[in-house]
Parts: sequence; structure tokens; C-alpha cells
Amino acid sequence: MKELIEEIKEKGIAIGNEILKVDSFLNHQVDVKLMKKIGKEFFEYFKNKNITKVVTIESSGIAPATMTALELDVPLLILKKKKPNTMEDEFIQTTVKSFTKGNEYKLTISKKYINPNDNVIIIDDFLANGESCLGAIRLIEELGGKVQGIGIVIEKSFQPGREKIEKRGYDIYSLARIKKLENGKIEM
Ligand code: G4P
Repeated sequence: MKELIEEIKEKGIAIGNEILKVDSFLNHQVDVKLMKKIGKEFFEYFKNKNITKVVTIESSGIAPATMTALELDVPLLILKKKKPNTMEDEFIQTTVKSFTKGNEYKLTISKKYINPNDNVIIIDDFLANGESCLGAIRLIEELGGKVQGIGIVIEKSFQPGREKIEKRGYDIYSLARIKKLENGKIEM
């Protein structure tokens, strides 16, 4: 997606060889006009898949996922990284290990928001190691939902996420793919 790639080139900052800082438009401050365009882009790609729900993982996936759900005219479901105190009904959890952040969390979903009639897309800000996305797939499928695809704003192609997810047969649509981060340079 042209506008996103331009924004990354202009405002993205490579930290070491692994991390792309994009907190001026995606992770901290959010460029809402860009998010709107991102929502339209995902809509165009997934519009014929009979999507009934957009799923994301808190927190940075929420902005692009909201815009996508708005375009598709379906609810947005935000998976939690721990069980909220207010979640008293039945829920399921799966453990996700984040290699980037070096921690583990329990991805949590209330049973009542996904059922076997659901056709779901997962939208997230980054695809790195793919573990959060695989965790989301496990939860959705355990409740009988079908994962029709995955939409990613920024994919780091030098990390193994895409390979792990494609190996399991899922379609991934990324709007920008980072080939390499080296000496402060971003190679798209
Ligand atoms: P995975 O999601 O593909 O499994 O990768 P991993 O566990 O290694 O990293 C996930 C977390 O790290 C996510 O944040 C993701 O947004 C963030 N992340 C990964 N690579 C980058 C990067 O190059 N730049 C930035 N800015 N973030 C990156 P999270 O834990 O879900 O937190 P949140 O920001 O969504 O709240």
C-alpha cells in the first residue's frame, strides 16, 4: 500500500536489526486518516469472504481493525492479554510467547462472541514471529469459528511469522513488507 510505505520510509525508525519504531503513526500516536485508508484496503481484499467478525489483539491492532470492521460493517472483537475482572462468563485462554518482548501472556476470549457460524479475519499491526496470530487462530477455531484470512499492517519478512502461518494453510495479506533492518536503514 503506497501511502503506508511512504509513511514508513518517512517516519519509521529502525532500532537495531529487528525493531521498526512507528509510534508516530501506528503504535502510540495514530494517523487516523491512514487507518481509514488501511481499513478500505483490507475491505477490498476480504469483502467477498462473507466475513462476520474482525478479530484483533490488544492493543496496537485495534486502530486498523476498527476501520476494517467499519468498512465490512461487522463487529470488532478484541482479544485480551489477560482475563479482565469483569469477564465473569465462560472464557477460554491460550498461552502466547512473545519473542520480541521476551514475555508470555494468556490470550483470552469470551466464549459468547465466536460461534460456528462465524467467518473471521484477524487484523494486527505487526507480523514478526507469528505467535500472537497463531494464538488467536487457536482460540477462534476452538470455538468453531472459521479463519478466512489474516490482514497485517507491517510484516517483517525476515522473521518467521509468515512461513509458520502459511504452512498451516492460512492466507496472509500484508500492506507493507520489511525485507531488512540494518544500520538504521529500512529495506522494503
Ligand atoms: P508475533 O506477534 O508475530 O508473535 O511477534 P512477537 O510476539 O515477537 O511480538 C509481538 C509484539 O511485539 C506485538 O506487540 C508487536 O506489535 C510488537 N512488535 C514486533 N515487532 C515489532 C516492531 O518491529 N516494531 C514495533 N513497534 N513493535 C513490534 P504487543 O505485545 O501485541 O503489544 P501492543 O503494542 O500491540 O500493545
